Amino acid sequence: MLTMQEIRTHYYFTETDAELLKELFPLAQENSQAMVEDFYSYLLKIPETAAFLRDPKDLARLKKTHSEWFLSLFSGRYDNEYMLTLQAIGQAHVRIKVSAHYVNAAMNVVRRFLIEMLQASFPDIAVRRKYRIAVEKILDINLDIMSTSYQEEELRKVFVSH
Ligand code: HEM
Repeated sequence: MLTMQEIRTHYYFTETDAELLKELFPLAQENSQAMVEDFYSYLLKIPETAAFLRDPKDLARLKKTHSEWFLSLFSGRYDNEYMLTLQAIGQAHVRIKVSAHYVNAAMNVVRRFLIEMLQASFPDIAVRRKYRIAVEKILDINLDIMSTSYQEEELRKVFVSH
């Protein structure tokens, strides 16, 4: 199993990236409501994902959960504890049987949202570029760790069926 430090190295994720992401925290906080609205309007349009979001009570709780995850992208702390949290998030989706395809597609929604947020906030291309590179790295790292839970589940199924 990889450590968070190894994962960071493989993505060229530096302490500078961590600091850049932390600088974006206030902007992310201002935009978190809009991000969650985007995210849910997307998930509610697709019958396969909407099926997980039928109960209005659950919906309010889940919006909070997804919004907290969004803000955690900008915490500035990306250590083994962070990795374990992401593994648990991946496992939660495997457990309830959300297809990996929708997790990937939902991450694309978040990515587009963030690219547009940066576009609107940083007119200077050089400044925007460094934030964007840091954002792309942390989103890819998130997806990588969450995807591992799906791969492990596939391996487990193969193992159990033999
Ligand atoms: C739970 C993040 C995609 C539906 C969660 C949790 C987080 C999270 C942080 C809490 C996990 C826990 O309790 O440990 C994400 C991220 C996604 C994503 C980062 C992709 C960018 C999706 C998609 C769906 C979905 C595509 C489909 C509707 C749910 C549901 C739960 C949940 C129903 C509650 C699981 C439970 O009750 O245990 N998600 N999610 N998520 N997510 Fe997502």
